[in-house]
Amino acid sequence: MLIRCQIQCLVVILIAINKPLIGDEEKEEVMKVLGSGRLTDSSFDGSPMVREFEKSLANFIGVKHAIALNSGTSALMASLIALDIGHGDEVLMPSFTFVATANTVLARGAKPVFVDINLNDYTMDTDDLKRKINKRSRAIIPVHLYGHPADMNPIIELARKNDLFVIEDAAQSLGSSYKGNQTGSMGDLGCFSFYSTKVVTCGEGGAITTNDDDLYVNLKKIRNHGIFSNHNPEILGLNLRMPEIEAALINVQMRKIDSFLRIRRKNAKMLSEYLDGLKGVILPRERNDCKYNWYLYTISLEKSRDSVLKILNDKGIGATVYYRTPLHKTQLYKRLGYDDNLPKTIWASEHVLSLPVHPEINEQDISNIASLLKDAIKTIS
Ligand SMILES: Cc1ncc(COP(=O)(O)O)c(C=O)c1O
Repeated sequence: MLIRCQIQCLVVILIAINKPLIGDEEKEEVMKVLGSGRLTDSSFDGSPMVREFEKSLANFIGVKHAIALNSGTSALMASLIALDIGHGDEVLMPSFTFVATANTVLARGAKPVFVDINLNDYTMDTDDLKRKINKRSRAIIPVHLYGHPADMNPIIELARKNDLFVIEDAAQSLGSSYKGNQTGSMGDLGCFSFYSTKVVTCGEGGAITTNDDDLYVNLKKIRNHGIFSNHNPEILGLNLRMPEIEAALINVQMRKIDSFLRIRRKNAKMLSEYLDGLKGVILPRERNDCKYNWYLYTISLEKSRDSVLKILNDKGIGATVYYRTPLHKTQLYKRLGYDDNLPKTIWASEHVLSLPVHPEINEQDISNIASLLKDAIKTIS
């Protein structure tokens, strides 16, 4: 324990992989909420800043409705409850994702079925998806990993043909688009996270977007113990409400999102220019018909990924591996009997490395990250 702490304390990360950018405006809005004494509201429509956020998110995504919640995990959970997905149902998703995508399905008593990814953008492989659909399948959860939109047209076509719901896991992809559509606007439901590393944040927070009026009404009940009024639950729900302080924060962040995304794009472009042609490194390439939000800048290293990672971390660059252990290889899922053959997922887990491009990083930082990466690769080869 002591040894571990000493080792960790020696490494000072100067450029974090992502960080919340909180200015005076956010602080002022939070103070207003504290002064108002209205910290939350369990009525069906929620408190004023929550309602303002829902309008601005729905408008940004280009859908009829948004429902504010207290996390991205809550967004996935509420979606599964709203679609009545549970015992005996299978839900198709990548194994190469954050654990919340699968754990919410497990928590509903349903079975996550893992689909391999493609190595162009690390999202769901639609050929493998097609092979794994069967009569127990109820829904597909494509994950727009790193802010790279999954290939939604074939996914939606397969879903329509097989009578499946599509829940977009857009936790990492606010501001990314596919063929002109914002992620979160194409499936039946889109789930967002506003955890502190995300492109806009309120510490912990989430939301669901949808064009479906009935799902919208049910989701607003589900976030509030299934209650519409009079403490009388009509359906199953939980306390998944977004507090007013978080709504105050996220409202200000939403006003800044265009500029945040612009700087991320500029940083990613600069980093690609610096790294262009570097041997042994596969750079992220935006598809022609997609726009990334550049939540992360994820490269693949043909060899010695972990040695390069260590050198960068030792030099203060918060390069990070998302995700070293695909879900079907985690202790939990192995214990549940998962033993899938997902070769591209395994390859990605052993080779990917994410670099920071968040809005506080300037041109000099980008140049430093690029040179340190080049030096690290030279050192280990
Ligand atoms: C792909 C993905 N899905 C779901 C979540 C869960 O979101 P939250 O942490 O807000 O519960 C995250 C969070 O990082 C995520 O990256």
